[in-house]
Amino acid sequence: MRKNIIAGNWKMNTTFEEGMELAKGLNEALKGKTLKCDVVIGTPFTHLACIADAIDTNVIGVAAQNCADKDKGAYTGEVSAAMVASTGAKYVILGHSERRAYYHETAEILKTKVNLALANGLTPIFCIGEVLEERKAGKHFDVVDGQVKDSLFDLSAEDFAKLVIAYEPVWAIGTGVTATADEAEEIHVHIRCTIAARYGEEIADNCTILYGGSMNGANAKELVSKPNVDGGLIGGASLSVDKFMPIIEAF
Ligand code: PGA
Repeated sequence: MRKNIIAGNWKMNTTFEEGMELAKGLNEALKGKTLKCDVVIGTPFTHLACIADAIDTNVIGVAAQNCADKDKGAYTGEVSAAMVASTGAKYVILGHSERRAYYHETAEILKTKVNLALANGLTPIFCIGEVLEERKAGKHFDVVDGQVKDSLFDLSAEDFAKLVIAYEPVWAIGTGVTATADEAEEIHVHIRCTIAARYGEEIADNCTILYGGSMNGANAKELVSKPNVDGGLIGGASLSVDKFMPIIEAF
């Protein structure tokens, strides 16, 4: 069955102490609550193990924001999928537009990362999305199709079924401009159809597709009320418990 997920992406924010405080605060706020969605926090690598240890990981899943495209060895400064998994993290965000744009992560690199994440038992939260010029030119459907096909469509059906997809229009990330609920729904339906054409209706139907891009407590309800918007990947508003909780409670 398709899961609802609200995932935070802390990006390169919080010192270790701040991150611990934020994670523990969220853990506290969620105690005893009956939730209609899974909750995930994507923290910096340096925080993963201690956060996974300090919170109830049955309630809050922990995610890395990246992993290496190599298994192990002489790759100074890299963090492997196996290392991420060994911290107690269960997810890894891959293909975020900031990774694609600033660190030149190609479809091919991302394909390798997805494979390594899956081989190490991590659930990839795979991000796709068009830039503003592409949307204005009406190319957004083709862009997301390409991103999905080029990095994911060599996976077996069994492996594909383990993924979470996050549609994040680049023009909406950190800008305060959100896609309307109708725009999100339209492209989520499209992505689901693309998946169905490759893997069949059942896998497409069960695939969790999150929306990301300036999602907050004020717009979350409308977005997640759409039948094909199964939650969100939240940047800025995941950095405080007070802002993140209303999004979790939007379901
Ligand atoms: P934002 O970021 O919520 O700050 O727009 C979303 C993301 O980049 O995942």
